[in-house]
Amino acid sequence: MNQMTSDNLRSAFGGESQAHMRYLIWGDVAEKEGFPNVKRLFQATSDAERVHATLHFKALKDVSGDFAVTSMAGFGINSTSENLEGAKNGEIFESTQMYPAYIAVAEMQGEKEAVKAMKFATAAEEVHAERYQTAKDAVDSGKDLDVEKILLCPVCGYITFDDTEEACPICGAKKAVFVEY
Ligand code: FE2
Ligand code: FE2
Ligand code: FE2
Repeated sequence: MNQMTSDNLRSAFGGESQAHMRYLIWGDVAEKEGFPNVKRLFQATSDAERVHATLHFKALKDVSGDFAVTSMAGFGINSTSENLEGAKNGEIFESTQMYPAYIAVAEMQGEKEAVKAMKFATAAEEVHAERYQTAKDAVDSGKDLDVEKILLCPVCGYITFDDTEEACPICGAKKAVFVEY
Protein backbone atom coordinates (compact mmCIF):
# COMPACT_ATOMS: atom_id res chain seq x y z
CA MET A 1 0.00 0.00 0.00
CA ASN A 2 1.21 3.55 -0.69
CA GLN A 3 2.99 5.04 2.31
CA MET A 4 1.02 8.30 2.49
CA THR A 5 -2.39 6.60 2.45
CA SER A 6 -1.12 3.96 4.87
CA ASP A 7 0.01 6.73 7.26
CA ASN A 8 -3.33 8.51 6.87
CA LEU A 9 -5.34 5.35 7.56
CA ARG A 10 -3.28 4.68 10.69
CA SER A 11 -3.83 8.24 11.81
CA ALA A 12 -7.57 7.96 11.15
CA PHE A 13 -7.64 4.63 13.01
CA GLY A 14 -6.03 6.37 16.00
CA GLY A 15 -8.50 9.25 15.90
CA GLU A 16 -11.51 6.91 15.64
CA SER A 17 -10.24 4.66 18.44
CA GLN A 18 -9.82 7.65 20.73
CA ALA A 19 -13.27 9.00 19.83
CA HIS A 20 -14.73 5.56 20.68
CA MET A 21 -13.35 5.73 24.21
CA ARG A 22 -13.91 9.46 24.68
CA TYR A 23 -17.64 9.11 23.91
CA LEU A 24 -18.04 6.27 26.41
CA ILE A 25 -16.42 8.40 29.13
CA TRP A 26 -18.50 11.46 28.27
CA GLY A 27 -21.60 9.24 28.24
CA ASP A 28 -20.93 8.34 31.87
CA VAL A 29 -20.69 12.06 32.67
CA ALA A 30 -24.03 12.72 30.95
CA GLU A 31 -25.67 9.94 32.96
CA LYS A 32 -24.34 11.42 36.22
CA GLU A 33 -25.71 14.83 35.19
CA GLY A 34 -29.17 13.27 34.65
CA PHE A 35 -29.24 13.02 30.85
CA PRO A 36 -29.79 9.30 30.11
CA ASN A 37 -30.77 9.88 26.48
CA VAL A 38 -27.58 11.88 25.87
CA LYS A 39 -25.70 8.92 27.34
CA ARG A 40 -27.42 6.63 24.81
CA LEU A 41 -26.42 8.98 21.98
CA PHE A 42 -22.80 8.91 23.18
CA GLN A 43 -22.92 5.09 23.34
CA ALA A 44 -24.39 4.73 19.85
CA THR A 45 -21.85 7.18 18.40
CA SER A 46 -19.03 5.43 20.26
CA ASP A 47 -19.96 2.23 18.45
CA ALA A 48 -20.15 4.14 15.15
CA GLU A 49 -16.52 5.19 15.66
CA ARG A 50 -15.65 1.54 16.35
CA VAL A 51 -17.17 0.73 12.93
CA HIS A 52 -14.95 3.39 11.34
CA ALA A 53 -11.83 2.21 13.19
CA THR A 54 -12.53 -1.35 12.04
CA LEU A 55 -13.04 -0.32 8.40
CA HIS A 56 -9.76 1.61 8.43
CA PHE A 57 -7.91 -1.24 10.15
CA LYS A 58 -9.17 -3.68 7.51
CA ALA A 59 -8.21 -1.31 4.70
CA LEU A 60 -4.68 -1.03 6.12
CA LYS A 61 -2.47 -3.42 4.23
CA ASP A 62 0.73 -2.44 5.98
CA VAL A 63 0.57 -1.97 9.73
CA SER A 64 4.27 -1.52 10.36
CA GLY A 65 5.87 1.79 11.28
CA ASP A 66 5.13 4.45 13.82
CA PHE A 67 1.60 5.01 14.93
CA ALA A 68 0.76 8.62 14.19
CA VAL A 69 -2.26 10.09 15.93
CA THR A 70 -3.88 13.34 14.87
CA SER A 71 -4.70 15.89 17.50
CA MET A 72 -8.44 16.01 17.95
CA ALA A 73 -10.79 18.64 19.23
CA GLY A 74 -12.33 18.14 22.65
CA PHE A 75 -10.12 16.45 25.22
CA GLY A 76 -10.65 16.08 28.95
CA ILE A 77 -13.84 15.77 30.95
CA ASN A 78 -16.00 18.85 31.38
CA SER A 79 -19.73 19.41 31.70
CA THR A 80 -21.95 17.46 29.32
CA SER A 81 -22.73 20.66 27.42
CA GLU A 82 -18.99 21.27 26.91
CA ASN A 83 -18.39 17.60 26.12
CA LEU A 84 -21.09 17.74 23.46
CA GLU A 85 -19.48 20.86 21.97
CA GLY A 86 -16.09 19.09 21.90
CA ALA A 87 -17.69 15.99 20.38
CA LYS A 88 -19.42 18.07 17.68
CA ASN A 89 -16.22 19.97 16.86
CA GLY A 90 -14.25 16.73 16.52
CA GLU A 91 -16.86 15.41 14.08
CA ILE A 92 -16.74 18.63 12.06
CA PHE A 93 -12.93 18.53 11.95
CA GLU A 94 -13.01 14.96 10.64
CA SER A 95 -15.70 15.51 8.00
CA THR A 96 -14.50 18.89 6.69
CA GLN A 97 -10.71 18.70 7.02
CA MET A 98 -9.19 15.34 7.93
CA TYR A 99 -11.09 12.92 5.70
CA PRO A 100 -11.33 15.17 2.60
CA ALA A 101 -7.53 15.52 2.63
CA TYR A 102 -6.96 11.81 3.27
CA ILE A 103 -9.47 10.83 0.57
CA ALA A 104 -7.79 13.11 -1.98
CA VAL A 105 -4.48 11.35 -1.34
CA ALA A 106 -6.03 7.86 -1.44
CA GLU A 107 -7.86 8.64 -4.71
CA MET A 108 -4.68 9.98 -6.25
CA GLN A 109 -2.95 6.75 -5.23
CA GLY A 110 -5.74 4.46 -6.49
CA GLU A 111 -6.44 3.03 -3.00
CA LYS A 112 -10.07 2.02 -3.54
CA GLU A 113 -10.81 0.27 -0.23
CA ALA A 114 -9.30 3.16 1.73
CA VAL A 115 -11.39 5.66 -0.24
CA LYS A 116 -14.59 3.71 0.47
CA ALA A 117 -13.87 3.35 4.20
CA MET A 118 -13.12 7.05 4.55
CA LYS A 119 -16.09 8.17 2.44
CA PHE A 120 -18.47 6.22 4.69
CA ALA A 121 -16.82 7.81 7.71
CA THR A 122 -17.01 11.36 6.27
CA ALA A 123 -20.74 11.11 5.62
CA ALA A 124 -21.40 9.55 9.04
CA GLU A 125 -19.34 12.21 10.90
CA GLU A 126 -21.43 14.96 9.31
CA VAL A 127 -24.54 13.33 10.76
CA HIS A 128 -22.87 12.76 14.16
CA ALA A 129 -22.16 16.51 14.39
CA GLU A 130 -25.85 17.27 13.79
CA ARG A 131 -27.02 14.76 16.41
CA TYR A 132 -24.60 16.18 18.98
CA GLN A 133 -25.86 19.71 18.25
CA THR A 134 -29.44 18.52 18.84
CA ALA A 135 -28.34 17.02 22.17
CA LYS A 136 -26.44 20.17 23.16
CA ASP A 137 -29.47 22.37 22.42
CA ALA A 138 -31.55 20.20 24.76
CA VAL A 139 -28.94 20.11 27.53
CA ASP A 140 -28.38 23.87 27.31
CA SER A 141 -32.08 24.38 27.98
CA GLY A 142 -31.85 22.07 31.01
CA LYS A 143 -33.46 19.05 29.37
CA ASP A 144 -32.36 15.61 28.29
CA LEU A 145 -32.26 14.78 24.59
CA ASP A 146 -35.89 14.21 23.57
CA VAL A 147 -35.71 10.96 21.60
CA GLU A 148 -37.08 7.45 21.90
CA LYS A 149 -35.00 5.30 19.62
CA ILE A 150 -31.37 5.90 18.74
CA LEU A 151 -30.46 3.71 15.75
CA LEU A 152 -26.97 2.93 14.45
CA CYS A 153 -26.14 1.56 11.00
CA PRO A 154 -23.36 -0.92 11.86
CA VAL A 155 -22.07 -0.89 8.29
CA CYS A 156 -21.12 2.78 7.96
CA GLY A 157 -21.75 4.41 11.36
CA TYR A 158 -24.84 6.45 10.40
CA ILE A 159 -27.05 7.42 13.35
CA THR A 160 -30.74 8.34 13.28
CA PHE A 161 -33.51 9.09 15.78
CA ASP A 162 -36.12 8.38 13.08
CA ASP A 163 -37.69 4.95 13.37
CA THR A 164 -39.45 5.31 9.99
CA GLU A 165 -36.27 5.25 7.86
CA GLU A 166 -36.28 2.04 5.82
CA ALA A 167 -32.63 2.03 4.79
CA CYS A 168 -29.36 3.78 5.55
CA PRO A 169 -29.06 6.93 3.40
CA ILE A 170 -25.27 6.61 3.38
CA CYS A 171 -24.54 2.95 2.59
CA GLY A 172 -27.97 1.58 1.67
CA ALA A 173 -28.06 -1.08 4.41
CA LYS A 174 -31.59 -2.21 5.27
CA LYS A 175 -33.24 -1.09 8.50
CA ALA A 176 -33.25 -4.71 9.73
CA VAL A 177 -29.53 -4.48 10.48
CA PHE A 178 -29.78 -1.23 12.47
CA VAL A 179 -28.75 -1.51 16.13
CA GLU A 180 -30.98 0.17 18.69
CA TYR A 181 -29.74 2.05 21.79
FE1 FE2 B 1 -15.80 8.16 12.95
FE1 FE2 C 1 -18.29 10.44 14.39
FE1 FE2 D 1 -25.00 2.76 6.69
